[in-house]
This record gives sequence, structure tokens and C-alpha cells, in this order.
Amino acid sequence: MNNALVIGSGVMGSGIAQLLSINKIKTIITDSSIDNLKKSKEKVLLNLDSLLKKSIITKNQKAESIKNIDFIKTLDQEINQVDFVIEAANENFDTKKKIFKMLEKKISANCVLATNTSSISISEIASELKFPERFIGMHFFNPATIMKLVEIVKGRETNMETTDKIIKLTKRLGKIGVISKDSPGFISNRILMPMINEAIETLRGNVAEVDEIDSVMRLGMAHPMGPLKLADLIGLDVCMSILEVLRDGFNDKKYDPSPLLIKMVNEGKLGRKTRQGFYKYNKTK
Ligand SMILES: NC(=O)c1ccc[n+]([C@@H]2O[C@H](COP(=O)([O-])OP(=O)(O)OC[C@H]3O[C@@H](n4cnc5c(N)ncnc54)[C@H](O)[C@@H]3O)[C@@H](O)[C@H]2O)c1
Repeated sequence: MNNALVIGSGVMGSGIAQLLSINKIKTIITDSSIDNLKKSKEKVLLNLDSLLKKSIITKNQKAESIKNIDFIKTLDQEINQVDFVIEAANENFDTKKKIFKMLEKKISANCVLATNTSSISISEIASELKFPERFIGMHFFNPATIMKLVEIVKGRETNMETTDKIIKLTKRLGKIGVISKDSPGFISNRILMPMINEAIETLRGNVAEVDEIDSVMRLGMAHPMGPLKLADLIGLDVCMSILEVLRDGFNDKKYDPSPLLIKMVNEGKLGRKTRQGFYKYNKTK
């Protein structure tokens, strides 16, 4: 795969586009919000500088990334060249389904369609598609340039050729793929989100403050980052959407998002991306 299209230029789309372009894949990235697309361009440049400073990438890789990545407002002819699409729009079933229905009218016959969904059923998104055999879940972690794992999720009709192509791409990007069955939250978020939700409930119940809750999990359980800081990094709106998918998918109220999480999302306190979540962030963080 040498020509990629990334749909959605938020936290994950920007990171994935950066990762693809560093690895010499011609990448176009688009978003329904021009404002977000502009911010993504700024963010990608800042991140490349930061990766270079930390010696995670070389000068050549930075130049390669800038050369290979294109920020595009509306999709046109260029879509014919694309052999890999990864969607990283909001964690909403209808949004994702609409995107893929639009895409499949335009893509070429050998193009693989992947979603970065954290929790939504791959088979359900694929259910109304003309080419469900070319559709797959490719779940990157945040930040996509750094985190080693990719959760690969096959839908009911995903074929071997598609799966093999994604396993190969995962390796080429320097990542390690783990295959999960198509079940709500897959492996990662079925385990992670209830923990984050419980940390928020611990805070809401006045058992301890933010720092104490995170310290216990860092120092006592050897987690590299506490659950509240991780929730801020993921995005509180994303955490809430994933919990709703788990609750509805398993029909179990134990996954109900904490009232405090709902309140913060309603107040627009979404974590790092809005610079206010359980912690406050300055512009450069
Ligand atoms: N944040 C994380 O840590 C994380 C990790 C792994 C996977 N994910 C998943 O990745 C996806 C994106 O998450 P995010 O954190 O980047 O969200 P985000 O809110 O940062 O970005 C979503 C972007 O999608 C755009 N968008 C919405 N509808 C669109 C459409 N129809 N066409 C094009 N663009 C559209 C929005 O304008 C926004 O810029 C979600 O499915 C999420 O579950 C998130």
C-alpha cells in the first residue's frame, strides 16, 4: 500500500497521517471541519519537531513526512489513486457508516477500507457496504507515532487478503498487531474503559483527589500514566462514547458513563484537546 487517505483530522487522524507519511506512504487527510484540518496541519508540524528533538525520527523522516502529507478540504480525483483508507472520525456509528457508504462509490477495486474505531462493531459498520470483504478494524493507540500496538479486528465478512494486507502494513509501520474478535470495545477498551470510569466514580465519591487516584495506579500498579490523565489524553467525549457502545452492546448498565464524565463532556471539558479535563494544559502540551 502506497497511497493512503485518512478521514478525520482530530487527535488520531493527525497522528495516523503522520505515521503513514513518515513511512513513505503518500497520505491525504481530510475533515468535515476546515478549522480542524487547519489545526491538524499545525499540530503535525509541531509534533514532527518534537519527535525530531527527542531523536524518535531523523531529519530525513521529518522531511519525508512533510513531503508525503497533503491536507485536503474536499475529495476529488485523488481518491482514485488511494489503495488504503483509514477512518478516524468521531466514535459514532451513523457518522462512520455514512463515510464508508460515500467512500465505496469512489474508491478503486483494490482499495482496503479500515476504521480506527475504538469500540463499534466492524460487522455492523460493514453490514450495508457493497464490499464488506475489504473492510476491517485497524485500531491505533494514542499517540499513533509512538504506541506500539495495533488491534486488528476482522468483521464477519472480512477476507484473508484484506487481513493479510493490514498485518503487512502494521509491520511496515513498525507496530505489533494483535487480532481481536469483533466484540464491543474489542480487547483494549473492554478492559480499559471500566477502569477509567471507576476512577472517575472514585473522584465523584470524594474518596480522593485527581493526583491521589492517578498516583495509586502509577506507583501501586506500575501503570505509566494514571487513569484520569489517560482519560484526558484519549478525550473525555471519546471515553463517554466508548462506554455507551459497551453499555448498549452488552446491554449492561455497569458500563453507564459516570455522571461526572457526562457533566464534563457537556461543559466542553474534553481533556488535552480542549486544554481542560481532570488536569489543565497549556498550549504547547
Ligand atoms: N483519542 C484516542 O485516544 C483514540 C485512540 C484510538 C482510537 N480512537 C478512535 O479514533 C476515532 C477518532 O478519535 P479522535 O480522538 O481522533 O477524535 P477527535 O474528536 O479528535 O477527531 C474527530 C475528527 O473527525 C472529524 N469528523 C467528524 N465527522 C466527519 C466526517 N463525516 N468526515 C470527515 N471528518 C469528520 C471531526 O471534525 C474531528 O476533527 C474514534 O473512532 C475514536 O474512538 C481514539
